[in-house]
This record gives sequence, structure tokens and C-alpha cells, in this order.
Amino acid sequence: MTSPSKAVSAVALGCLLALGGGAAVAEDGYYGDYADRFEPLPALPPIPADNPLTDERVELGNFLFFEPRISSSGIISCATCHNPALGWADRIPRSVGHEGQVGERNTPTVLNSGFLEAQFWDGREPDLEGQALGPIEAEVEMAMDLDAAIERLEGFDLYQAMFRDAFPEDDDPINADNVAKALAGFQRTLNTPHSPFDRYLQGDLQALTEKQKRGMASFVDNGCIACHRGPNLTDSDFHRIQVPGSEDKGRYEVTGEERDKYAFRTPSLRNVAVTYPYMNNGGTETLEEATMIMGQEMLGRDFSDEEVAELVAFMESLTGKMPDFDIPALP
Ligand code: HEC
Ligand code: HEC
Repeated sequence: MTSPSKAVSAVALGCLLALGGGAAVAEDGYYGDYADRFEPLPALPPIPADNPLTDERVELGNFLFFEPRISSSGIISCATCHNPALGWADRIPRSVGHEGQVGERNTPTVLNSGFLEAQFWDGREPDLEGQALGPIEAEVEMAMDLDAAIERLEGFDLYQAMFRDAFPEDDDPINADNVAKALAGFQRTLNTPHSPFDRYLQGDLQALTEKQKRGMASFVDNGCIACHRGPNLTDSDFHRIQVPGSEDKGRYEVTGEERDKYAFRTPSLRNVAVTYPYMNNGGTETLEEATMIMGQEMLGRDFSDEEVAELVAFMESLTGKMPDFDIPALP
């Protein structure tokens, strides 16, 4: 016997084949109108003209991401805090860097970071190229002098060859700019399309449960989408909020403007179910708590347990397929 839901999916599939993904979502009645407010995640973010995404650059960036010798202790790499097994983050409230120092903020994932129009919780860098050298030099992260890092890399024949292949137009390719470009290029490949939500938006109407669809509708109706919008579920903009336990002045540290006090860049919600704990200080352990805080602080609302559960179910549908990459065999 064909169940009604299978019959619906056969109709939807026919529609998908005939008209393309968007049309099938429109078939999802009431929920189709909500789905129209979202966009699936593209396979790649925008690629800047001055840093083309070549295989050689991506491979070099992959090596450098796991390379602890660009830290002064020789034991901390980007992957120490952005650990691929932990959603490319670290699952502790605040990061632990050079000589065990605890940083000021929670480590965000680098997944889909190429889609962000402002990097860091306070948006102090516009892009991944600008972002990359900060952690190498930061006293609480890798605490490394850039010239010394370059000198260490120059000591390896393999890096001499890899930098030459990645930057064939440069006479002296091992330099800080190129380290940043290679790291940025690699990170632009760390994207997670094909989440259940993306599959739903592309026409697989069974990819979300009813509860997740109700959560999607509630996410729109309650105005979460005002800030968590676009393919990466962030407006890359700054909003004032003081989450429990945080005295961090956020964007104010960058601009010195009164209106930026306690403002933070909206984080992406992609893969949010696997990148706990939450908020700029990592002080919020669960998605349920994070959702209640958002309701109270951003929307002036106390959600019922059921509303929280639906919103959380929706956010759980945003976990995508983890990107393919190789663990490099470092020289
Ligand atoms: C000691 C832990 C640690 C190390 C090592 C580290 N990071 Fe981070 N990373 C963080 C923290 C904490 C933040 C947030 C800092 C802030 O917003 O002020 C961050 C932010 C970022 C962001 C911005 C993401 C966003 O959502 O805004 C990117 C991209 C990133 N790091 C990449 C790297 C790269 C590349 C390296 C290696 C060169 C690296 N990180 C090394 C902890 C670390
Ligand atoms: C006015 C803009 C705005 C609205 C509306 C909003 N958010 Fe947020 N959201 C933010 C900002 C900014 C943060 C970061 C706060 C911080 O850490 O200081 C955040 C953080 C989060 C986090 C934690 C993510 C992480 O990785 O730490 C979750 C989950 C979240 N929001 C979900 C929601 C949900 C669900 C709604 C609707 C009920 C919502 N947000 C409404 C701006 C907004």
C-alpha cells in the first residue's frame, strides 16, 4: 500500500524534475511560503579576484592550518582550537592557547567562514585574508613573531616547493601575505551544503520533520530571521546584547563608538548543533538555553518549552555534510 506521504513525495519529485528545486518547495503548502524566505548554502563562497582558489593554494593552506611550527611553542596550530573532529571549533567555553592561557572569547567554527562579511565576534577584520595572521601573532593564541614563522617554513624543502607552486608569479613566495592567502583559500573550501534544511529547500520535502518545519515557521514569525538570514544565517552585522556572564564590550573595542558597546556580529547558525557551547563567552551550554536568551534579550519574549523545542529542532536541521579534506603529512 502506498502511504499518503509517499504519494506526496512522488508528486513532489515529478514537480522537482519538471520545474526545478524551488517549485517543489512551493508545493509544500503553508510551509512553502516560509521556505521562500531562506536560501540554500552554495558549494563555495565568493572568491576574491586577487586570491584565486587554485588546488595548489588550497593544499598549502591545508598544510599550514595543521602546522604547529608557526606557533612559538611549536605545539599549537589553527586546528588545535578549530578541531575538525569538534565541528572545527573546540567545545570549551573559551579557547586555551599559548602556555595554557585562556582567551577572552569562545572559538567560532571556521566552517562556512568564507561567507561571513565580517570576521571575529567584533568584526575587526573584513575577510579571511585579513583574519589569518592575527591568531599566529596573538599572545594568547600562537604567540609567534611572523618573521620567525616565515623563517621556520623556509627551512623545509617541501614548503619551498609548495609556496613556489601556489604562488608561481612571486620571486620570493614564502611571505606573510601568501601564508594568509593560502589559509584563506583552504578555509573557503570548508563549507557544509547538503544539510537536511538545504535538501528541503532544494525540493526534498521529506528532508525536514513536521516539528522542524514548525520550527522554521516560528523562526520567521518570531523575527530570528531579521538577523540570522541569508545562506549562512547571519547578516554579518552587529547587535547589542549582554549575554549571561559577559562583560565584553564587543564591537566597541574596535570602533570606540558608544552605540557599539556590547554589540557582537551575528554568528552563523549553520552546524550550530555541533558547535556548543554558545555565545561570545561560551557561557551558554545548550541550544535550548541559547534560544531562550535570544527570545528574552533580542525579542522581549519568553518562549514556551514547546516553542523552544521546535526552534531547536529547526536549528538541528542546519548541520551539513562535513567537508572533505586530507590530514596532511607534515614535513
Ligand atoms: C588558541 C585558540 C585558537 C587558535 C590557535 C586559532 N584560533 Fe581562530 N579563533 C579563536 C577564537 C577564540 C576566535 C574568536 C576571537 C574573537 O572573535 O575575538 C577565533 C576566530 C577565528 C575566525 C573567525 C570566525 C568567525 O566566525 O568570525 C577564523 C576564520 C579563524 N579563527 C581562523 C583561524 C586560523 C586560520 C588559525 C591559524 C592561523 C586560527 N584561527 C588559530 C581561537 C583560535
Ligand atoms: C537582533 C538580532 C538577532 C535576533 C533577532 C536573533 N539573534 Fe541570535 N544572535 C544574535 C547575536 C548578535 C548573537 C551573538 C550574541 C553574543 O554571543 O553576544 C546571537 C547568537 C545566537 C545563538 C548562539 C550561536 C553561537 O554559535 O554562539 C543562537 C543559537 C541564536 N542566536 C539563535 C537565535 C534564534 C533561535 C533567534 C529567534 C528566536 C535569534 N537568534 C534571534 C543576533 C540575533
